[in-house]
Amino acid sequence: MSNTFADGCAWVEGAFVPIGEARIPLTEMGFTRSDATYDVVAAWRGKFFRLDDHLQRFARGCGYLQLSPPVRFDEIPEILAQCVRRAELQDAYVEMICTRGVPRAGNRDPRRVENRFYAFAVPYVWIAPPALQAEGIALIVARGVERISQRAVDSTVKNFQWGDFVRAQYEAYDRGGWTAVLLDSSGRVTEGPGFNLFAYTRGTLLTPPTGVLHGITRQTILELAAQERIPTRQVEFDLETLQGADEIFLTSTAGGVIPVATLDGEPVGAGGPGPVTLRLHARYWQAHEYGPWVSHLYGASLGAGGESDVSE
Ligand SMILES: Cc1ncc(COP(=O)(O)O)c(C=O)c1O
Repeated sequence: MSNTFADGCAWVEGAFVPIGEARIPLTEMGFTRSDATYDVVAAWRGKFFRLDDHLQRFARGCGYLQLSPPVRFDEIPEILAQCVRRAELQDAYVEMICTRGVPRAGNRDPRRVENRFYAFAVPYVWIAPPALQAEGIALIVARGVERISQRAVDSTVKNFQWGDFVRAQYEAYDRGGWTAVLLDSSGRVTEGPGFNLFAYTRGTLLTPPTGVLHGITRQTILELAAQERIPTRQVEFDLETLQGADEIFLTSTAGGVIPVATLDGEPVGAGGPGPVTLRLHARYWQAHEYGPWVSHLYGASLGAGGESDVSE
C-alpha cells in the first residue's frame, strides 16, 4: 500500500495528517497577523543536523514574542521525528511553528489567546538545487526595497514577515537574478529570503553581525572556517565591499552553502564557486554524515527529548 504521508507529514492540533490535508483556521493569528515564530531543521540521510541548536533558537523566539506552545519543548524532537518517519524521508525540511492562535470573536488582546503548535516534514528543500550550486547563482542587490528595520521586526527572531523579501525576489526575477540580498537603511549588507551572506575578501570571510538572523548554517560556517584556519569577521560592510569580494556565498538550512557566480550581472571572482567556498561546502556536507552535530532519526533515541510519549 502506498504511504499517505509520502508528500510529507504534519502535526496539527495533536494529530499527524498528510501534508496536503493539513489546515489552520482562517482566523488563526499566525496567518492574519504573522503573529508567530518558527524554525526549520534539516534531516539528512536519516539524521537531524544541529537539532538542539534549532530548538534553542525556537524556544528563545517563543520567549521573545511571549508565546508558549501547548507542548513541552522536550516533546518537540519526537513530534518532528515522527513527522519525518511517517513520511519515510531520509532528507527532509522539518518545520516547527508556534502561533498566537485563534481568538474568540471580537477579542483583540493577544494575551487572551491560546497559543498553538504546528509542525511538518516535507522532502528536503533547496534554495538553489545542487546542479545550480555547481555553477553558482546569479545574485542581485535589491534597489527597490530595503530590509525592514531591526527595531521594527527583530531579525534574530525567525518570523513570517517576509514583505521586503518577497518584493526583493520579484526584483531579482525582473533583473535576471536567482535571488536578492537586501541593504538596510544605512546601505549595509544584510541577508535575503531565507539565507545569510558571506563575502570572502582580502583573505578574510566577512558576514554581517546585526540586522540578520543568526542562522545555524552561518554559525556552522564560522565554526568550520575556524577549524580550517580561514580568518572570519562578523562585521558590518557596505555594497562596495561586497562588489570587491573575491568570493560570495549564501548559507541556509534549505540548501547549505550556496556559491554566488555573479552579483548584479558582474562575475564574482572568476565567475564560479571559489576555492574557499568549495572547501567550506565540502566540510559542511561532511559534517552531516557523522560527528557532534548529528542525531539519528531512525532507531536510536533523540538527544533532548528522548522517546517521549506522543499521542495522536
Ligand atoms: C531571514 C533568514 N536569514 C537566514 C536564514 C538562514 O538560517 P539557517 O541557517 O538557520 O537556516 C533563514 C532561514 O530560513 C532566514 O529565514
